[in-house]
Amino acid sequence: MASGADVKVEFDPKNMLFRRLGPSGLRVPVFSLGGWLTLGGTVIGDPVKDIIKTAFDNGINMFDTAEAYAKGKSEVEMGRVIKELGLRRTDLVVTTKLFWGLRSGPNDGGLSRKHIIEGTKECLERLGLDYVDVIFAHRPDVSVPMEEIVRAFNWVIEKGWAFYWATSEWSAYDIEEAQHIATKLGLHGPIAEQCQHNMFHRERPEKEYRPLYKKYQLGTTVFSALASGLLTGKYNAGIPEGTRFSTHANFFKGTVDSLQKEEGLTKIRKVNELSVLAEQELGCTITHLALAWVAKNPNTSTVILGASKPEQVLDNLKALDVIPKLTPEIMDKIEAILENQPAALPTFGRPALDPNGRL
Ligand SMILES: NC(=O)c1ccc[n+]([C@@H]2O[C@H](COP(=O)([O-])OP(=O)(O)OC[C@H]3O[C@@H](n4cnc5c(N)ncnc54)[C@H](OP(=O)(O)O)[C@@H]3O)[C@@H](O)[C@H]2O)c1
Repeated sequence: MASGADVKVEFDPKNMLFRRLGPSGLRVPVFSLGGWLTLGGTVIGDPVKDIIKTAFDNGINMFDTAEAYAKGKSEVEMGRVIKELGLRRTDLVVTTKLFWGLRSGPNDGGLSRKHIIEGTKECLERLGLDYVDVIFAHRPDVSVPMEEIVRAFNWVIEKGWAFYWATSEWSAYDIEEAQHIATKLGLHGPIAEQCQHNMFHRERPEKEYRPLYKKYQLGTTVFSALASGLLTGKYNAGIPEGTRFSTHANFFKGTVDSLQKEEGLTKIRKVNELSVLAEQELGCTITHLALAWVAKNPNTSTVILGASKPEQVLDNLKALDVIPKLTPEIMDKIEAILENQPAALPTFGRPALDPNGRL
């Protein structure tokens, strides 16, 4: 972390787009960078610096990690690189997540007040930072009363260890309960949900959370927009050496097995059709199309990119130029290929409202 004279790199947003994170005043880049499986995991040392520097030099100033990523090493590597690059703290949006913990004691994970407070302090120590911008509850914890969770995150914010809190992979019901308690008690409620959203995973972000966008202006920090690489087309004809599905073969065994079955073969057929559409109608690759498609969604605050090499960051940022090319006609063609658009809420004969609640 650097301030004043020891700042080595001035932030230049280049052609990055920025959006508010949910109802908050925090501006986040439409493409950010995360560290799951990569930073501190398969990528360590100088290559971590190369990836983060490439991102920062190209307008990405938001970095996402978690206590659980590479058993804490992701936070350590990210913090080390931020310091070594001499990035100014105020230029950055750093987010981390709590839930799984690093040890196996009864209070070393979950969302008890004890783990939220102790876990936050440990995250900050590993990152070498005084605060993170957003702290996420990495999963819901059914074993802790929601009021305890909301009060504990509120405390973390009041202490100045985080500016905002948010959720990840919570149901709409859980988010609603947290919002209700926060409103009732005058406490900080969650501002965003870190959810999976990609062309093959749509129900939760596009249907289940729909009422929350309208009611709470809930933001989303989307993960796995490339479905771990499936939406780059790299797995169309097997599992290439050195790619995520081979370097984390055990974790992705179910996914890889499914690629041989009807469900997976259908996905690969759609990837092929989308590749043709991307190339012929937009002059881009399916990777750019898949990323731009998620970024275009008005409920997406930021798409967290994952990258094992700096070149992937550069390639993925070409999606910025594709977002304005996604006209209603192109979106219809994409829907015709995907055939998985979540159904609209039933209106039982009453006239449907537009997204602003108007007739
Ligand atoms: N909250 C949660 O529960 C949760 C869960 C998952 C992720 N996340 C967050 O979201 C971030 C992104 O998720 P993700 O990594 O799953 O995203 P993703 O975009 O679906 O997958 C990223 C991976 O795809 C491959 N890839 C990326 N760009 C490529 C390109 N241009 N060409 C070819 N291959 C490319 C790389 O893997 P290889 O090169 O190794 O093949 C890369 O590591 C994570 O780092 C993390 O911060 C959060």
